[in-house]
Amino acid sequence: MLKDEVLKLKKEKDIVILAHNYQVPEVQDVADFVGDSLGLSRQAAKVKQKTILFCGVHFMAETAAIVSPGKRVLIPDLEAGCSLSDSITIDQLRKWKKEHPDAITVGYVNTTAEIKSELDYCCTSSNAVNVVNAIPKEREILFLPDMFLGSYVSKITGRKNMQIWAGECHVHAGITPADIEKKLAELKNAEFVVHPECSCTTPMMYDIASGSYKNHQVQILSTEGMMKHVSKSDSQQFVVATETGILYRMRQQNPQKTFIPASENAECEYMKMITLDKVYRSLYDEKYEVKVAKKIADKARIAIERMLSIS
Ligand code: 13P
Ligand code: SF4
Repeated sequence: MLKDEVLKLKKEKDIVILAHNYQVPEVQDVADFVGDSLGLSRQAAKVKQKTILFCGVHFMAETAAIVSPGKRVLIPDLEAGCSLSDSITIDQLRKWKKEHPDAITVGYVNTTAEIKSELDYCCTSSNAVNVVNAIPKEREILFLPDMFLGSYVSKITGRKNMQIWAGECHVHAGITPADIEKKLAELKNAEFVVHPECSCTTPMMYDIASGSYKNHQVQILSTEGMMKHVSKSDSQQFVVATETGILYRMRQQNPQKTFIPASENAECEYMKMITLDKVYRSLYDEKYEVKVAKKIADKARIAIERMLSIS
C-alpha cells in the first residue's frame, strides 16, 4: 500500500511530515503533525529532523524554511499557491507604506516571504488580536491582506486607527451570510465555529463578542482553535465554517459528535493539489525544495519571531 511505502520511506530518510488541517485524509494520515499555520511554524522550528516535507501551500512551506534556516524544506507540488497571499504584491505594499510612513505593518502569515520581509509583525488567525493589542494604541496600523480578518480584529480590539487591505481568500469569502442563515434555520441546536477569513463574519460582528448569534453559540477561531473548541464543548452538533478538509480530523477525534460544513463548496483547490502520490514522489526524489533568499529570510524572520514571542 502507498501509505505503508510513505511511512517506510520517511522513516528510512528521517524526514518529518507536517500537514495543514485542510489536507486530504490520506495525507493527514501519514503526517507526524497536523495543525494550523501557527502550530506548524512552531513545529518546523522545533523538530530534530534536518528535512521537513511540508504538506500545505507554498507560503506555509516558505515560513517553515524561514524559521528553520538550517533545515531543508520540501513541498510535494510547487504550484500549491494561495489566492489570499496573491492579493497583495510587493510594489503595492511598498506604495501603501510610503503613503503611511509612520504606520506599523501587520501581515497575515498568508503572504509571500518577500511581503513578510517588509512587515513589522506577522500574525495568524489564532493570534492576530494579541499581536494588534501588543502595538501601542496611538500607532496607526496597516493590516494586510485579509479584509474579513482585519475587520474582525479591528472590532474585537476596538482599534479605529487600522487601515485594512481589501484582499480575500476565495474559499472563505465564498462562505456567505446566506450559508449561515440557512444553517441557522435548519439546525436549532447547533453550535457554530467560524474562521475569521469568512465573509459571513460581517453580520455577526456585533454579537460575536458575547459568543452568541441568534440564540446559537458562535466562536470565531483559527483552524486549530476550532479543533480544541469542538473537543471541549458540550454541544453535540457543530456547523463548521472553513475549508472542508478539517472535517476529517474533527470527526476522527470526536466520533460521538456531528460536524456539518457551512458550505460544501468550501474546498481549497491549492490544498488539494497535495496528494499521497505526490507525497511519495516528493520523499523518493527529495523534491521540490522551497528556498528563500537569505536576505529576504533574515528580514522576514524578524516579523515572524515578533509574532511567536507574543502568542
Ligand atoms: P489557519 O491559520 O487557521 O490554519 O488558516 C490558514 C489558512 O490558510 C486559512 O485559509
Ligand atoms: Fe489560501 Fe484560502 Fe486556500 Fe487558505 S483556504 S490556503 S487562505 S486560498
